[in-house]
Amino acid sequence: MPRDPVYLTTPLFYVNAEPHLGHTYVTLVADVLARFWRARGRTTFVLTGTDEHGDKIAQAAAAAGVSPREHADRVSALFRATWDAAGLRYDHFIRTTDAYHVAFVQRVLADIHSRGEIYFGSYRGLYCVGCERFYQERELVDGLCPDHRVAPTEIAEENYFFRMGAYQERLQATLEANPGLIVPEGYRREVLALLREPIGDLCISRPKTRLAWGIELPFDSRYVTYVWFDALLNYVSALAHLGRMELWPAAEHLIGKDILKAHAIFWPTMLMAAGLPLYRRLCVHGHWQMQQGKMSKSLGNVVRPLDVKARYGMDAFRYYVLRDMAFGQDAEFNEDSLVARLNGDLANGLGNLASRVLAMQQRYFDGVIQPLAAEPIDLALRSAFATAARELDAHVEDLAFHRGLEAVWRALDHANKYVVETAPFTLAKDPARRPRVGAILHELCEALRTAAQLLAPFLPESAERLVALLGLPAARLEDLELPWGAAFAPGHRTLPLPPEPLFPRIEVPAA
Ligand code: MSP
Repeated sequence: MPRDPVYLTTPLFYVNAEPHLGHTYVTLVADVLARFWRARGRTTFVLTGTDEHGDKIAQAAAAAGVSPREHADRVSALFRATWDAAGLRYDHFIRTTDAYHVAFVQRVLADIHSRGEIYFGSYRGLYCVGCERFYQERELVDGLCPDHRVAPTEIAEENYFFRMGAYQERLQATLEANPGLIVPEGYRREVLALLREPIGDLCISRPKTRLAWGIELPFDSRYVTYVWFDALLNYVSALAHLGRMELWPAAEHLIGKDILKAHAIFWPTMLMAAGLPLYRRLCVHGHWQMQQGKMSKSLGNVVRPLDVKARYGMDAFRYYVLRDMAFGQDAEFNEDSLVARLNGDLANGLGNLASRVLAMQQRYFDGVIQPLAAEPIDLALRSAFATAARELDAHVEDLAFHRGLEAVWRALDHANKYVVETAPFTLAKDPARRPRVGAILHELCEALRTAAQLLAPFLPESAERLVALLGLPAARLEDLELPWGAAFAPGHRTLPLPPEPLFPRIEVPAA
């Protein structure tokens, strides 16, 4: 039976900053999930892109001395180029300035306006440009925006409003009835708590006299819409444009906790007003902190993904962020911890196992695989990998990537102990025991093959290198049903070890 498709989205990144660790993390999670589910027979589709309208983009462009469009073109291209260079794959890259998106937003606006869901009114409120939204007094901390720590600006003007409040009860009931709709669970509870107070209506416009860099309202050319009413619709406009609306019910939005309210309150009520079904789930991750606190240009501690890649390789970067952040919680980015993961888990745990096995396979058998009936200790090794595969599936379903990787490393630790316990290097000295040495190495080659398959979504380059060293085609990586013992045909040869290790260790200067 064909499995459900999965449609993964990242937030659309503002073009007022260059791609950094936070943007990379969420895009990487989408890439991992897509690779993971594709190998398990599901159709996947990843959407990412850039959010280009609004005050703060206009301000960034002015600061750079260029027009908003020139600025957006440059930074949007930079995001794309960064994901391409980092090997983060997506199926479509949307810009909120794309003509099809603008037309889509205008169609939705015209439609819900004609049904009385949008009204004109005057408004006075506290606006944070960093968040591009109004704050209620009680949401502020000491009168400041809790995220940007700046006092919001008081704005009084006539604007258009979306009757968001009319959907409050329906949203609340939906959230209560669907425990898995927002994950991890703590965020669903956070949203339910917000819904205990009136949510009010949503201001969706700006007079052009104040902000021209937005999408013109189809029913009043003096106004534009911007950021939320504009950007959130990207998740649907892209599918409509590509003729892939069948994917919409399979939508899983990946977002940071900073934009929870927009995705858990604004967006579902907009969907209700537009008569569209809700997304399948909202997956909310925590923030990367730096030792000095928040990552920011002014602190000069912005982590650029391609710098990290150049220093440690993309796979080590991928492994570190997925292993050290529990999805949903905050984590601290620290280069020493990255190096410790690289030298420990990757170089010692996996790399060393691979090089020992492949070196012995070459030295004793010229690379030719030597299968033989299994002994009990071999069956225990097989079952360690079967357990890891089962646990990995369950943890990835729950977005607990760190636990999934831990499970695979338990199997790799088991394999390293198996090498010590079976001691093929000692047995090899006795010609009578050579067949058993061949059998042990065959088991270990199967262990490496299985590890490469399980890790391929997380460490795509290394997994490919590893199966190539085992003499297997890259397509085997997605062959998850392959039974243990079936990967290597009689006479199969593994390759000689190349001089450069799978994961070169980073020398740490003595403290
Ligand atoms: N443009 C809006 C989103 C519109 S979605 C329709 C926006 N853009 S953003 O450029 O600020 O990106 C926010 C997202 O980037 C966060 O939700 C999160 O996924 C990621 N991160 C940005 N900084 C982050 C950290 N320090 N840590 C982890 N991820 C964070 O909001």
